[in-house]
Amino acid sequence: MSENKGSFYITTAISYVNGSPHLGHAYEAILTDVMARHKRLDGYQTYFLTGTDEHGQKVAKTAEKQGLQPRELCDKIAAEFEAQTGTLNISNDDFIRTTEERHYKASQAIWNAIKENNPDDIFLGKYDGWYSVRDEAYFGESELTDGPDGTRLAPTGAPVEWVEEPSYFFRLSAYADKLLDHYAKNPGFIQPDSRRNEIISFVKSGLQDLSISRTNFKWGVPVPDNPDHVMYVWLDALTNYITGVDYPDTGSKKFQTFWPADFHVIGKDIIRFHCIYWPAFLMAAGIELPKAVFAHGFINVEGQKMSKSVGNVIAPSDLLRDFGLDATRYILMREVPHGQDGNFSQSHAVQRINSDLANGLGNLAQRTLSMIAKNCDAKVPACGKLTESDQALLAHAYEKLVPGLRSEFDTFRFNRGLESIWKLVDAANVYIDEQAPWGLKKTDPARMATVLYVLAETIRCLAISVQAIVPGAAEKILDQVVAAEDQRLYAHISKDYALKPGTDLPVPEGVFPRIQLEEAA
Ligand code: MSP
Repeated sequence: MSENKGSFYITTAISYVNGSPHLGHAYEAILTDVMARHKRLDGYQTYFLTGTDEHGQKVAKTAEKQGLQPRELCDKIAAEFEAQTGTLNISNDDFIRTTEERHYKASQAIWNAIKENNPDDIFLGKYDGWYSVRDEAYFGESELTDGPDGTRLAPTGAPVEWVEEPSYFFRLSAYADKLLDHYAKNPGFIQPDSRRNEIISFVKSGLQDLSISRTNFKWGVPVPDNPDHVMYVWLDALTNYITGVDYPDTGSKKFQTFWPADFHVIGKDIIRFHCIYWPAFLMAAGIELPKAVFAHGFINVEGQKMSKSVGNVIAPSDLLRDFGLDATRYILMREVPHGQDGNFSQSHAVQRINSDLANGLGNLAQRTLSMIAKNCDAKVPACGKLTESDQALLAHAYEKLVPGLRSEFDTFRFNRGLESIWKLVDAANVYIDEQAPWGLKKTDPARMATVLYVLAETIRCLAISVQAIVPGAAEKILDQVVAAEDQRLYAHISKDYALKPGTDLPVPEGVFPRIQLEEAA
């Protein structure tokens, strides 16, 4: 059965290539991947774009420090980010690098589109002011604080430098009312609400025109008709979201199907760029605006901000080594509340993984499938007359599981969606203890078979429902109950696709190992 409920386009931020991927990047990739997988499972034609942001002074300076050409650094680090999509089982459809030819074309095209549509919106001038290379952002005097040794610091804590150079400007000041109007008419444009309020008050305080080209270094996309200038890296970077769907070919099937994007998923530090600059550029260029920007929080470690100087930076590979991929994905989605900062604590993660995955879903599947292997000839057992308890458990699976998770997952409340799924895991574990199928083997083997059937069918539904979060383990469970490969969507959580008694089952294997604290230390 292939159901198509419409299209869905989702993107991550594209990562700077000045350093290797860390846990924050991994979190964002997994968060976005879970939404993309969830939408595919829910019957949407989904397109998922991620990639790397390779231009600008930060990358150029990092390359220089390492004695590399910018392009060499980009190739090296972009390869690490691309490899990470594999190790984290990210289901992206495309990986964009801003140094690609297609992206130069798109960036120059959006520049020209702004000029053609609104000739006054791009003008040549001179920028005199502060610039933070770390943030790749301009700051006004009033936003700065004093740092050590006479340095001046941006609100992010990054040092700023004084810049004076000829520059093209974008007439951002003309867009404040249009932006406020857009936020008012589209309350879901900035999510969560707290971020929306932050942006609205910033725009209300007044917008300055924005410098959109640089002349004192070369590592960027040349400005059309004036290659002495390179485009400001954020104008180039934001454009990746439309390069990925074939812009400037707006007649292409991809563009027509997927633009405007449903969600740009980003961290809370870059909302101004996404919720002010990006929609203003698009308005000026006459391109439709994305439907929503979702800003997630930051991952802290043992209650502290991750930082090289504190020495608490966690590499994604540390978690994969200690917990394996699915448990890592699970813990990040389970522990970080909607849009807020999340704390990673080793001991808490071990407890949660063991109780929810090893003892919860894992044990349920393992107990049920090994009883079937031993007592039912390794075939899906026969299902006799259903009791009230059997019916209640199956009704929970068929009627409550998907609506419960969908309402939470659709809004990035993955922690709450998981809580809702785990109500069924808990109900099934209560059911197995109450029905005690192990005691029925001698007294009532037909009833034992029915109980095991109900459990196996519940496990099939559960495994379908957790695929977005733990795709590897879910697939193994679905293989173990021999669910057809083309019957693994949410729409298949129904009696119509129930397990067929008599089907041969493979030898069961545990899918969620218990983590020992010493191992993870
Ligand atoms: N290149 C820009 C984004 C351009 S998008 C058109 C950028 N790159 S980044 O590498 O610094 O960050 C990439 C993403 O990772 C951002 O969304 C950022 O918020 C996110 N994170 C960086 N550190 C993070 C944590 N510690 N925790 C969670 N996300 C974090 O910004």
